[in-house]
Amino acid sequence: MSVNVKQLAAEKAVEYVQDGMKVGLGTGSTAYWAIRKLGERVQQGLKITAVATSRASEDQARELGIPLVAFGDIDSLDLTIDGADELDGDLQLIKGGGGALLREKIVAMGSTRMIVVADESKAVQTLGKFPLPVEIVPFAWEWTIAKLAMLGCNPELRRSGDELYKTDNGNYIADCRFEVIASAPELALSLQGISGVVDHGLFIGIASMAIIGKNDGSIEIIEGETHL
Ligand code: A5P
Repeated sequence: MSVNVKQLAAEKAVEYVQDGMKVGLGTGSTAYWAIRKLGERVQQGLKITAVATSRASEDQARELGIPLVAFGDIDSLDLTIDGADELDGDLQLIKGGGGALLREKIVAMGSTRMIVVADESKAVQTLGKFPLPVEIVPFAWEWTIAKLAMLGCNPELRRSGDELYKTDNGNYIADCRFEVIASAPELALSLQGISGVVDHGLFIGIASMAIIGKNDGSIEIIEGETHL
């Protein structure tokens, strides 16, 4: 039987959740397994409260009986567990393949610790093969796309069938193919300087640990610093 490496990594991360914690729930097919395991532990008596980074994760958590709170009811989180589209050895990430990057970043930055869970295909030497998702406002999107292209990428507005894809916040996503991102911090600064950009999928200095599930059934852990 082949190993479900996403499940392997996600379930390991859930071991770091302790009674009384406020937990951020990520989005995507790896975070799905973490939420599922968390639901099991809640049914066995674990006491936590959680916030979700997307409607999909919120619905899953609610079905599993994980107590959810509104952001306004808490001022910080202890731990967020989330997936990534790419990660490097310095715990720099590309996120947003599922379109939830803005909420994911707000939640991760409001957490004392963020654990990234991924299968080994996500671990790279240099970020950039995965097109970087950039959330942009619909107003004057053509101008914003043109400015993104000037940073050396090939931006494409994400579609959902015949329609333009809209995030949970009502914005568009431009998927920006760089191939190689030589300096993620420099690119992040340039992106922040474009007025139509709401946020981008580069997570730098946010993750404190990565748990990587490997095809041979082993787990690699990369530890960084706690950012708060
Ligand atoms: C959602 O917006 C993303 O940031 C996901 O966390 C990321 O795409 C990883 O998803 P998978 O675990 O499904 O690969």
